[in-house]
Amino acid sequence: MRQVIELDVHGKPVHVLVRSEPELEGRASLWPSVGEYPIYDPFLYTTMTTDEERNKRFRTALEQLAPGRRVLDIGTGQDVVWARESVRAGARQVTAIEVMEDSFRQAAVNLTAYGLEDRATLLLGESTSLAFAPQADVCVAEIIGSVASAEGAAAVLTDARRRHLVPDGVIVPHRAVTRAAAVCLSDVLGEQHIAFAAESIPYLQSIFNWNTSPFDVRLRIENASPDALVSESAEIESLDFNGTLHTAQQTTTCLAIQRSGRIDGVLAWLQLWCLSDDEPLDALRMKTNWASIYCPLFQEPVPVEPGDTLDLVFASSLGADGVHPDYQLSATLHTADGRTHNGSLESPHRGAHFRTHPVYRLLFPAP
Ligand SMILES: C[S@@+](CC[C@H](N)C(=O)[O-])C[C@H]1O[C@@H](n2cnc3c(N)ncnc32)[C@H](O)[C@@H]1O
Repeated sequence: MRQVIELDVHGKPVHVLVRSEPELEGRASLWPSVGEYPIYDPFLYTTMTTDEERNKRFRTALEQLAPGRRVLDIGTGQDVVWARESVRAGARQVTAIEVMEDSFRQAAVNLTAYGLEDRATLLLGESTSLAFAPQADVCVAEIIGSVASAEGAAAVLTDARRRHLVPDGVIVPHRAVTRAAAVCLSDVLGEQHIAFAAESIPYLQSIFNWNTSPFDVRLRIENASPDALVSESAEIESLDFNGTLHTAQQTTTCLAIQRSGRIDGVLAWLQLWCLSDDEPLDALRMKTNWASIYCPLFQEPVPVEPGDTLDLVFASSLGADGVHPDYQLSATLHTADGRTHNGSLESPHRGAHFRTHPVYRLLFPAP
C-alpha cells in the first residue's frame, strides 16, 4: 500500500509517495541517500557503530597502524569509535574532529565516559577549516558514502594529506571504489514498492529543510539483491587515499547485458579496502550500513537481451561547497535490433533539480 503525504518545506507543500506498511526485515526498500548531509542522529550513528562488517576492517587497520603513532580521526561522530579504537590499539595521541555540534557535544560526553580525555583531544569544526599541530602519522576518516566519494572524502583527505599529516602519513581506509551495473528499479524493489519507506521520511524532511527546497535526492536502496543486476558490473570511480587521489574524475565503461530483462538505470555500490591487502567490503553482497544507490537514466524501462551493451559515462566534480561532489551520468544502450537508446542523470549534491526523471515525478507527485 502506498499513500501520498505532504511535507512542509520552508512554507511550501511537497507531496511524497510513501509505503504505508512497515518494511519487512531484509526486503528491499527505498530511502533518500543520507550520508552526504549534516543530518546524522543517534539512529544513524548506531547503524554504523554496530556494523561489524565495517568495524572489523577499520579495527584491524588501526591495530596495525596506530601503536605509538599520532592519530587524526576526521568525523569522529557521537560515538568516537575510531578515537577509542586508536587509543585501545596503543596510539600515542589522538585528535578527533567533528563538524556537527550536537554530535560533538555527545562525543565530548562519551570521550569522558570512556576515560579517554588524557590521550584524545576533541575539536569542533570542519577538518578543511581547522589548523592544529603537530601533524598526525595516521589519519582515519570514515566519511565514505554509498557512492564512495559522496561524503567529500576526496577533497577532505586531499586537504588532510597536505596540511594535517606528516609527509609519509597513512590514511585509513586505503581505497574505495564505486561499482555499477544495469538494473530496472521495479525489478529491484517490486512494482508495488516504488515509494519511500515510512521510516525514511524524517530524513527526507531534514535534507529538504537543509537545502531550503525539495530536490531530486539520490535514491538509496536498502537490501538490494545482486540477483537484480542485468549486466556485468564495472568500476565507475576509484579513490586511492594512499596514492594519487582525484577530486574530479570521469570514467567510461561498456557493460555487457548478461540476461534477458529490462533496464531503466544503474545500481551503484561501494567496495572498501581499509588495508591494501584486505578482502574488500562489498556493500551489495554483505550486510552493512552502506546500501546501493539507484541512478535513473532512461525515461522508461527498455527490454534487453544478452549481447546488448550499455556504454556508461560517470563524471564527478566538486559541488558548490568545494567538498561534496556533483555527479553526471550518461548512457547509450545498443540493442541487438540495431537501435540505440540514450539516457542521462544530473545528480548534484544539492540544488534545484526537481522532478527531472519519471521516477522522481512518481515519488514527488505534483501538488
Ligand atoms: C559516516 S559518519 C562516521 C562517524 C564515525 N566516525 C563512525 O565511523 O562511526 C561521518 C561523520 O563525519 C562528520 N564529518 C564529515 N566530514 C567532516 C569533516 N570534514 N570534518 C569534521 N567532521 C566531518 C559527520 O558530521 C559525521 O559525524
